[in-house]
Amino acid sequence: MAKKIFSGVQPSGNLHLGNYIGAIKNFVDLQNQEGNQCIYCVVDLHAITLRQDPNILKNNIRETTAAFLASGINPKKSIIFNQSLVPAHAEGSWILGCVARMGWLNRMTQFKEKAGKDKEKASVGLYIYPILMSADILLYDATHVPVGEDQKQHLELSRDIAQKFNSDLNSPDFLKVPEPLIQRNFSRIMSLKDGTKKMSKSDPSDLSRINLTDTKDQIINKIKKAKTDTIPMPSAKEGLKKRPEVENLLGIFSSLSNQNLEKSIDEFSGKNFSDFKAILAEKVAEKISPISKEIVNLLKNKDYIDKVLMEGAEKANIQASKKVKEIKKIIGF
Ligand code: TYM
Repeated sequence: MAKKIFSGVQPSGNLHLGNYIGAIKNFVDLQNQEGNQCIYCVVDLHAITLRQDPNILKNNIRETTAAFLASGINPKKSIIFNQSLVPAHAEGSWILGCVARMGWLNRMTQFKEKAGKDKEKASVGLYIYPILMSADILLYDATHVPVGEDQKQHLELSRDIAQKFNSDLNSPDFLKVPEPLIQRNFSRIMSLKDGTKKMSKSDPSDLSRINLTDTKDQIINKIKKAKTDTIPMPSAKEGLKKRPEVENLLGIFSSLSNQNLEKSIDEFSGKNFSDFKAILAEKVAEKISPISKEIVNLLKNKDYIDKVLMEGAEKANIQASKKVKEIKKIIGF
């Protein structure tokens, strides 16, 4: 069945292998499936929930767009734009914020993680961020939303908001209830330094992640230094118990080879870690280096990137502003 896809990535720097495997790689696959209509958004309004330097933010918006393009998202097939160019996102977000309940937001684990110990000092934007994310999705009648595992709770919230809006305002099926598309495997890529922590742009150690802008030498070096253990490579899935780092590395290899974990375990069973790491580093470099080179190339032509965003925003604006108009009518404005 043809799907209407919406997803977003924050332009907050350091796009990494987790973003690629958990999200962007799937954006490309979905775009290339016959009949799908895809919208991919650089969510700059989300990025300012944490303080951003204006010049760095501007660069990061272009760099995230370049990463989309370099990974294979085609502006002729998919709509690519940045959120702040389409005012309906902020407008829709206000209205949906009056539908969402405090209790729902209080349950969001990502807010608790990001706000840290001193919640009082977090921005209000960080707290209501899942409402903006709901507006992103619901304004386009998206049927499916490809994301990594860490966004699952936010997607459930957007489903709750859609259902409550429809029922409170007696408009059945008006807001489409979106389905999350979270891969069963490899939807949570972990830090190279600690297999119990998510690979993240905010980890202070650059060695914890492979950035989409890393060179081949950097990739090889980071994988060489990735944490493992002293037990031989496993010969069956049970051999991965309590070995999150090894499981993560085998998961990365499997995802980039488009094969299941069992096949990778078979391939490396009995091999030593240095041999496995050398092959893994080649595999990651083979996928990521062309993307990183293309990002550098694209960033030389800022006008082209800006044009892609502007043209995408025009198309997005037609859909989103129409939906906001309908929402306003239903509400009684
Ligand atoms: P963001 O910018 O943090 O991450 C972008 C995408 O990358 C996925 N991801 C990962 N997947 C696997 N392993 C990891 N270690 C990893 N780290 C990140 C995320 O799950 C995400 O899919 N709120 C969203 C952006 C957003 C959005 C939306 C997404 C805004 N509006 C509407 C979907 C629909 C976010 O901050 O993602």
